[in-house]
Amino acid sequence: MSELNIEEVAQRLEVEAKGIDSLDALENFRRLYLGRRGIIAQLTSLIPTLSQQERPVFGQKVNSLKNAILEIIKEKELVLSSKGDSSSKQRQPLDVGLPGIAQPLGRLHPITQTINEICSIFIQMGFLVEEGPEVETEFNNFTGLNIPQEHPSRDAFDTFYLAEAGGDAQAKNRGEDRLLLRSHTSAAQVRLMKMRRPPLAVVVPGRVYRPDAVDASHSFMFHQVEGLVVDEGIRFSDLKGSLQVFVQAVFGKKTKMRFRPHFFPFTEPSAEVDISCIICGGKGCSVCGFKGWLEILGSGMVHPNVFRHVGYDPKRYTGFAFGLGIERIAMLKYGINDIRLFFENDLRFLKQF
Ligand code: PHE
Repeated sequence: MSELNIEEVAQRLEVEAKGIDSLDALENFRRLYLGRRGIIAQLTSLIPTLSQQERPVFGQKVNSLKNAILEIIKEKELVLSSKGDSSSKQRQPLDVGLPGIAQPLGRLHPITQTINEICSIFIQMGFLVEEGPEVETEFNNFTGLNIPQEHPSRDAFDTFYLAEAGGDAQAKNRGEDRLLLRSHTSAAQVRLMKMRRPPLAVVVPGRVYRPDAVDASHSFMFHQVEGLVVDEGIRFSDLKGSLQVFVQAVFGKKTKMRFRPHFFPFTEPSAEVDISCIICGGKGCSVCGFKGWLEILGSGMVHPNVFRHVGYDPKRYTGFAFGLGIERIAMLKYGINDIRLFFENDLRFLKQF
């Protein structure tokens, strides 16, 4: 290679150096000139073919060309890596002085928060928190709760059965329990009482299922908290007192409560409990349907038949039970007008809690 060619390479070098815009391009540039079969290697391999006089001059030119290339690489590296070129796999030196990468903080779902709040109020009154399975037996969800087979009151607590129709009939013939998704946490009452002896004071939060069409106030899956107290001498006034503490702790001291007679197969007497509307204070508004009251739970004294089903002596023991819908409480508390918002996993909604 002649001197002229070296000049040409030097000129090309400058043009090419200007075009390097990423660390990847810089690496290609380095390989082209300094690689094992790169231009510098090629030029160097020419030296033995030259005459004695030509060699040192040529060798010097190759050397200074190589230095110029190294200089360009050094400079470009500095500029490109400080620009934060991310296209390169090249490692950048660790700067321990840089601030760390913050992980976004998670949070509890508003339903979980509401369950925790409700349970902690009852824990302060001496209740234990228990859980029951979502897949329950027909006995625990219905029969044990004084809701006999074929009785119309089953409709109110209709649910999803897990076994197929054929399997059902066979299981029934063998006298076995069909499996279902519990339609209320009251199923846990039966399960717990079969396992324990009184005295008993428990709250049971959890999911329940009903074949309801989904709309702004209905969901095929929602959450309840069940309450159950059993001992000798438990009276309706104990139910009233416990619920009063609960209602005022969640909705404020000024909140009033009223008991409306109702029917549940597993409690007698039974009552639905309303609170004075937390929006209008009882004057009447669109939230309470201009009634001034909001229904929040079902309750009553445990029916003697329920005690018989779990082997408790109804002459010795009395008890109260209640069940409330968590979504309803959370919707009232936070002013949410559509139950579906809880289950859509939309972070814009969830981040507000
Ligand atoms: N299980 C009833 C429901 O889901 C509520 C309830 C619980 C009523 C306990 C009385 C006693 O509607």
